[in-house]
Amino acid sequence: MKETILTYHDDEIKVTWDKERCIHAAECVRGLPKVFDTDRKPWIKPEMASTDALTKTIEKCPSGALHYELKKSDRSEKPPEQNVITIDEDGPLYIYGEVVIKDLNGEIILEDKRVAMCRCGKSKNKPLCDNSHIDEGFTADTSFNPERLRTEPVKGKGGKLSITLYKDAPFLVEGNYDLIGSDTGRETCSKKMSFCRCGASQTKPFCDGTHKKIGFVSD
Ligand code: SF4
Ligand code: FES
Repeated sequence: MKETILTYHDDEIKVTWDKERCIHAAECVRGLPKVFDTDRKPWIKPEMASTDALTKTIEKCPSGALHYELKKSDRSEKPPEQNVITIDEDGPLYIYGEVVIKDLNGEIILEDKRVAMCRCGKSKNKPLCDNSHIDEGFTADTSFNPERLRTEPVKGKGGKLSITLYKDAPFLVEGNYDLIGSDTGRETCSKKMSFCRCGASQTKPFCDGTHKKIGFVSD
């Protein structure tokens, strides 16, 4: 996973932007155009908005490219009460929550409250999305089979959402979460589930084993 972090300050706040994780969802530009202006250098000027407005906008950055630290307060971003996985049409899986991404040895690769997980299989920054789905012409709707998630009872709300990366294979989600796809709706579950990250499953967003047939490669 690549990381290129740039920092922007005013007296109240330090804003960090990871260039590698920004997928130009433009929540920031739409939310506070005076602060986030891609035609200007520096493109982020924290002093152009109140700290409150700035933190609220940063917390909407779906990829986790933007974060902040307050200089005069201990307040920090809180995870949502329930973890949420949102399927983006022709794009990534956006995850909001207490996300912990690990490898098969249990080594933590990333802990964050917002991540965009690649599901087209083509990102050069796996497991995160880098917008390669656009160049690759990846198409996938947002439907899913809710029955697959109903085979285990809902065990609770929120808490850690563990994501384990399998080599050349899917990622396994464990914890309590809501899965949202605008074509199907919202399902609350605690089902341990393998999500496709090769882009070729016929049962998206879940894995159906196709990664083996297509020789999907990832670390
Ligand atoms: S909201 Fe986040 S991902 Fe979207 S353009 Fe801004 S920094 Fe990039
Ligand atoms: S990761 Fe795509 S089918 Fe298994």
